Amino acid sequence: MTFDWRGTTLRVSENRDFLAFAFSQFLYGEVTGIQCGHWLYRAPDLDAAQFFARQATEELSHVRAFREVLTRLGAAPQKAHPVVRYLSSGMMPDSFAEHVALEMALGEGLVLMVMYALADTIDDPEIVRIIEAVAVQEERHVDFGERRTALELQKNPSLRSGLIGQCLVSLSGVKLLARALERRAGDGPAVLAHLPEFVNALIAAAELRLTRIGLLKKPLASMGRVERTALMARAITGGALGWMVPRQRTKLLTETYLDQL
Ligand SMILES: [Fe+2]
Ligand SMILES: [Fe+2]
Repeated sequence: MTFDWRGTTLRVSENRDFLAFAFSQFLYGEVTGIQCGHWLYRAPDLDAAQFFARQATEELSHVRAFREVLTRLGAAPQKAHPVVRYLSSGMMPDSFAEHVALEMALGEGLVLMVMYALADTIDDPEIVRIIEAVAVQEERHVDFGERRTALELQKNPSLRSGLIGQCLVSLSGVKLLARALERRAGDGPAVLAHLPEFVNALIAAAELRLTRIGLLKKPLASMGRVERTALMARAITGGALGWMVPRQRTKLLTETYLDQL
């Protein structure tokens, strides 16, 4: 997941505006960690509940961490980009399987790679130390997402095509965000010259992850436009019309804990 930036760096003294923008996106993403509370209440087992309880405190400590980075940069936190807002909270998953696949394995996996990229290029050792401390905890979140997605798919293989569609929507969001970044880059940091290549690497890493956890059965490149569009359309309308489909209520832990002890 490490990318070769060919010696280009992000200098706090010169690239303050770009860094303030980047860390404001992280700040928003970390605040969406409050979603852990939703999944703690609806956790399918004690193991997941314990994980979400710990994750919630970690995500809230990341809010403090990125606030500290912005203070170090001497920059005020900004409103998050609409695509970031949509990807991290607009697509609030309907089920535990969607949460672990989309938010944790895919979403936090993408974020983790961007964190590595920033840690590898920023010229301020204290900011790098803060990012690396956060990244260690994010690795655990991604790992949980991967393991539990694989398990959900083993239990219910029919979830696969719906989840792939939602992953495709997220990945097109990533491309949109990258294009927006390129547009605002102007004569910004030299690092951004490698952005298109980095986005390809980001998507390749996501594809490898989705393949290893059993979600993708064939390369994304082998999917035709019609197949992709159909999967994505289903993911979007499925989400929008989801309230019309009667859902089976997931049992709460208070009803199932005795079977798990
Ligand atoms: Fe986090
Ligand atoms: Fe996380």
